[in-house]
Amino acid sequence: MFERVEYYPGDPILGLKEKFVADTNPNKVNLGVGVYYDEAGKLPVLECVKTAEQRIADPISPRPYLPMEGLPGHRKACQELLFGKDSKVLQEKRVATIASVGGSGALKIGAEFINEWYPDSKAYVSDPTWGNHISIFEYSNVPVAKYPYYDKSTNSVKFDEMVAFFKTLNKNDVLILHPCCHNPTGIDLTQDQWDTVLEVIKQHELIPFMDIAYQGFGEDMESDVYAIRKAVDMGLPLFVSNSFSKNLSLYGERVGGLSVVCPTAELADRVFGQLQFTVRRTYSNPPSHGGHIVDIVMNDDALYKQWVGEVYAMRDRIKAMRLKLKSVLEAKIPDRNFDYLTTQNGMFSFTGLTPEQVERLAKEFGIYMVSNSRMCVAGLNSSNIDYVANAMAEVLKD
Ligand code: LMR
Repeated sequence: MFERVEYYPGDPILGLKEKFVADTNPNKVNLGVGVYYDEAGKLPVLECVKTAEQRIADPISPRPYLPMEGLPGHRKACQELLFGKDSKVLQEKRVATIASVGGSGALKIGAEFINEWYPDSKAYVSDPTWGNHISIFEYSNVPVAKYPYYDKSTNSVKFDEMVAFFKTLNKNDVLILHPCCHNPTGIDLTQDQWDTVLEVIKQHELIPFMDIAYQGFGEDMESDVYAIRKAVDMGLPLFVSNSFSKNLSLYGERVGGLSVVCPTAELADRVFGQLQFTVRRTYSNPPSHGGHIVDIVMNDDALYKQWVGEVYAMRDRIKAMRLKLKSVLEAKIPDRNFDYLTTQNGMFSFTGLTPEQVERLAKEFGIYMVSNSRMCVAGLNSSNIDYVANAMAEVLKD
């Protein structure tokens, strides 16, 4: 009876971990999945998270079901981070927010909502984008197509082409946008460019769906949500999925949120009910441990302050690694331009290596990155950076 089941070739990002673990090269380096490792090459537990864990463990408390929408303190944390503590839209109760099972869970619930209430809408993703954007929306029966984004020749955004394309779309088509630290290219829009894009969205009555997984890793907590807050100021309807995987280093806890900004409190209430219903028939209600950590860290002034400092320290270490890799590669291959390493933002660098060069790095050097040439810069440290730079120089020379 299972003969009809098709073979799954594995995930292009998550599958790299298995290959990396199986590799016996003692110098192997994992620059595949978007995970921040510290200077010692270890996955950090943030100090603010340790304090939250101690509070959760003492005393060990019962584990009831959470409400379908998650813990109130988790939802409040998402809202205040994204929209601002004193934001008018929160005071007016125009935002429906649920806690989600990671950023992917937020995208899934959002995609299901769009399929149900906007069945004629298509979703548009940047070319390229994070592959799971496409899978999640298609699997929720929302047709997906690409909009022009990355210009390889200039290592920048094909801005005019992208905006012209947006103008051809139909009312209520959904644009999946990355407010900061674009995954996989690391190339973001400037604030002026966001203003233009949001104006086009408004005129053509498109639906922005902003997916933010790296708040704090770009410029800072506030600048990284410029596009979200500007869209709200302009009165646009808006979906925002956010993740705490990276900025709380809570990957396995699966904590995030989905927020839908509505024109009135009454509509937000209705949307909220439908989000609850979608959660109920998908996984019933979210797990509680990660939600408690978010609640404790984000709603305690001292822990929040400590958290922001810890995120900025991660951001700064990534920036230092970008500079270092650039200078080593420039010294080795002086006739090649490596400016992209420092102009791109966040965890990722789109290196422009060919799939063959990426494969050589894995086979000959045990260095793993995504086949589209995306490197997770957060996997570099002072012990492996020369090895990686030498290997890159080697494959680039041939
Ligand atoms: C990534 O892009 O590597 C991360 O967002 C992890 C994932 O789930 O793909």
